[in-house]
Amino acid sequence: MADPVKLTIDGREVHAAPGTLVIGAAKRQGIEVPAFCYYEGFIPKAACRMCLVEVEKMPKLQTACTLPVAEGMVVRTETKQVAEARKYMLEFLLTNHPLDCPVCDKGGECELQDMTFRYGAGESRFTELKVHTPEKQFSPVVFYDAPRCILCYRCVSVCDEGMGVNALGVVNRGVVSEIAPNKGDHLECDECGACIDICPVGALTSGIYRYQTRPWEMTHVGTICTHCADGCKTTLGTRNDRIIRGNNRDRSGINDEFLCIKGRYAFDFYDHPDRLQAPLVRMNGKLEEVSWSQALDTVARKFNETIATGGTFGVIGSNHTTNEENFYLQKFARQVLRTNHIDHQRTGDVTALLDALSGQESNAALSGKQGRLASVADLYERKAILVVGADLALEHPLLSYQIRANYRHHQAHVYAVTTDPVREDAYSVASVRVGSPAPSEYFAALESLRDKLKAESELVILFGDSLQGTSVGRLVEFGESLGIRVSYVCLVDYSNSRGAIDMGVTPELLPGYKPAEQPGMHVAEMLSADLSVLWVVGSNPLRLSAARKAGFLLVQDMFLTETASEADVVLPSACAYEKTGTVTNGTGEVQRLKRALNTMGAKPDLEIMGFIAREMGAAAALGPWSSEAVFEEIRQTVRGYQIPLAAIATGGAAQTAALNGRISVEKRPGLVRSDHNGLFTSGTLGRYSKVLNSVLESRLENSSRR
Ligand code: SF4
Ligand code: SF4
Ligand code: SF4
Ligand code: FES
Repeated sequence: MADPVKLTIDGREVHAAPGTLVIGAAKRQGIEVPAFCYYEGFIPKAACRMCLVEVEKMPKLQTACTLPVAEGMVVRTETKQVAEARKYMLEFLLTNHPLDCPVCDKGGECELQDMTFRYGAGESRFTELKVHTPEKQFSPVVFYDAPRCILCYRCVSVCDEGMGVNALGVVNRGVVSEIAPNKGDHLECDECGACIDICPVGALTSGIYRYQTRPWEMTHVGTICTHCADGCKTTLGTRNDRIIRGNNRDRSGINDEFLCIKGRYAFDFYDHPDRLQAPLVRMNGKLEEVSWSQALDTVARKFNETIATGGTFGVIGSNHTTNEENFYLQKFARQVLRTNHIDHQRTGDVTALLDALSGQESNAALSGKQGRLASVADLYERKAILVVGADLALEHPLLSYQIRANYRHHQAHVYAVTTDPVREDAYSVASVRVGSPAPSEYFAALESLRDKLKAESELVILFGDSLQGTSVGRLVEFGESLGIRVSYVCLVDYSNSRGAIDMGVTPELLPGYKPAEQPGMHVAEMLSADLSVLWVVGSNPLRLSAARKAGFLLVQDMFLTETASEADVVLPSACAYEKTGTVTNGTGEVQRLKRALNTMGAKPDLEIMGFIAREMGAAAALGPWSSEAVFEEIRQTVRGYQIPLAAIATGGAAQTAALNGRISVEKRPGLVRSDHNGLFTSGTLGRYSKVLNSVLESRLENSSRR
């Protein structure tokens, strides 16, 4: 690396890498140079001239957002001349800007408001009438108020460079210039809201948050998005036990500022009118509301009676419940109900990947398994990425965003082998289309890329559910045969799909991938078996199946799903935003959920299970049911989970360790099925999200207009 450049900023000696912009070098010293159009990570536009600074031996003020550092440079960011220049720039920006701060959504966190307080003139010299245009609704999510727009281009950059969507542009010239959507009168895009979030003023506002509250009236709780397996951190703004907005402006977590529509807006399922708020017990063929004590008593009596009469239990867990809930559930099933009939809907063959990597352990040249499972950060840092059989932009928006940023900032080499065109094609070294998602087709395509891949110095391979069982082993063999360092991501669907497998919610594996002595039944087998009791926690297995068969059906859920409506007892459960605990994302990183609100009548699944155990007189065998106590037990007993507490306690992510040793279980094809959710669907939760449904409806309306 070239030697750092030495310069002085505001009297401080600064060392910066050659090519660093003065604005960036100053920021690293804690010196904030005001900027509207510049935004770290995007190509500078030099449009607003707010970042003017004085540089010794340069005749005029310079834009710090375009000026690279130079040896011996002397920069002053706060002089009388600089302050004057900023005052005039603000005066120009305000010529046409309405004075509606008291009703503007951005009031209190508006960068123009802040700068005007700091540098602005007390009064304006302009007396002309301001140009007014009415507010426009670009989409169900995005609203635009042109007079407030300061034409900083941040929204255009984030949509084009960050999202790879390029849905916003500028039309007209001069005072009537404004931002325009890609479809003329409306927007068709990812609806991620990044443009709204990055807008320094209140020109772009969201259909969900607008006119709801003031920023300082909310409590801000950092937690983890409950939709896909990418594991984005989201800060929920709540007020009076209602979630008003989600964002990640503090750039904490593995996702920096990124959130897709689901993390930013699709928290709204929690207050859907169909939300269950009281337990239901079937009486005379009908589900009737009862008290918690009556419902728990019914369940405990039934469970104890089934144990006493030697009946059989089946248990189906969830891809959304926490690690603690999954761990406690499998312990309950195995130790109290004495069954190994426990499973959940598997959405990716993680077990096959871990086993295949163990099979390669002897390959010393590849230096063992540590680091063989890629993290979210790796997708931004590694030199080459290969996507096999997945449309990441639709199904794994954060992973897709990371790869795009890697390409923009580090010129990563990207390869895509998919059935259909994908967003990665726009910047891939090579994209190969396969005729069908059959493993043989994928492997033929991979062979055609072999020479190019061999020439890379390192590679991350991501693969979806088209590759399962022995095909995953074959993929790892292919990767290892390249002779370079390869790491892998097995894509799974939901916020804790990975955690459910790690915690042993499978009939053949105990927590930490220890084979069970006597494997039990899988989901499909349980549904068609004559079980005495079927207990379903946070899952909807009857969505695609025939009617229930089990003698007694207990369901814990937020909604009266197809499965819950067949139940004998339904216990209303809390969602991820209403509880504490941990989840493990698809790349094996553990993060902590923080409770943001309470919903009347619903309880966290862990508490419900603890209460059932207590009513049965079996609580002592299972230990305390607080999430902290169960997490400690997980750390002590589950292989790979000996993770440092400090990292996750402070809101960060901790990578679970790769397992050593083969996982000797039968590789049965067909057990894994991804739901392949798109950007606007999210399993059962998506069905209850107003914002996701409104986007889907508006897409339909727009296509029928065409
Ligand atoms: S919502 Fe996202 S995809 Fe749509 S215009 Fe804004 S930044 Fe682009
Ligand atoms: S809408 Fe906002 S982000 Fe976009 S150009 Fe206008 S002020 Fe900048
Ligand atoms: S990418 Fe996944 S985890 Fe991130 S906000 Fe979207 S749905 Fe949530
Ligand atoms: S921030 Fe430098 S010109 Fe806008």
